[in-house]
Amino acid sequence: MNQLRSLFLMIASFFFLSWFGIVIYSYIHLGHLRSVAGTDGLLPPEYNGSAVRGAHVYAVNGCMTCHTQQIRQLDVTHADIDRKWGERPSVPLDYLRDRTAFLGNIRIGPDLSNIGMRLTDPMKLYQHLYEPAQMVEGSIMPSYRYLFHLQKIQGEPSAYAIVLVGPHAPQLGYEIVPTRDVQDLVAYLLSLKHNYTFPEESHTAP
Ligand code: HEC
Repeated sequence: MNQLRSLFLMIASFFFLSWFGIVIYSYIHLGHLRSVAGTDGLLPPEYNGSAVRGAHVYAVNGCMTCHTQQIRQLDVTHADIDRKWGERPSVPLDYLRDRTAFLGNIRIGPDLSNIGMRLTDPMKLYQHLYEPAQMVEGSIMPSYRYLFHLQKIQGEPSAYAIVLVGPHAPQLGYEIVPTRDVQDLVAYLLSLKHNYTFPEESHTAP
């Protein structure tokens, strides 16, 4: 019986220590973080409504299973900056506006923390999502065609139609247009850019 009690106590303290380490310690360490005033408004900048919905589309489509959103610290590695995935390492304040921070831990594709600085043309993002192989030969990124729809051209072609060539182009008289979901996703991707710096004291631990 005594042995059972010690086993129970060991398991309970293991759970308590993990909970303390993950929840309470992080709260003490980072819970005080607030937006800071930059020259053009608050930092980090707020998302617009479309980008907020786009973060949800990012989550439900599992983009973080292949993409991270974190530029590693320079004392760990310079590789992320050398690959031009960002201009500086990520800091906790960068994630303040995120309901869920999509840090990710597998990099089958490139880090996306600054994709809004690297790919500024929405059409290129639509083309990549519709058919990655059209942008990168032999791409292993899945195609997200179900976020688009095929429609018959009625009179003038739509201004939103995706430019597609070769085998990926729709049949004559038809066009591929983005759904609301992928428009939001692209707005979210375009908003991913850490092109600002925080005042030094605002992101150091207390
Ligand atoms: C199975 C892994 C995988 C998944 C899931 C995935 N990607 Fe990718 N992604 C890649 C790879 C690999 C690349 C590198 C270029 C290529 O092969 O297309 C890439 C490239 C990209 C690029 C271009 C990056 C650059 O620096 O040029 C963007 C943007 C992108 N992915 C967005 C997304 C989004 C948004 C989702 C979810 C809807 C997603 N990816 C899901 C593997 C993936």
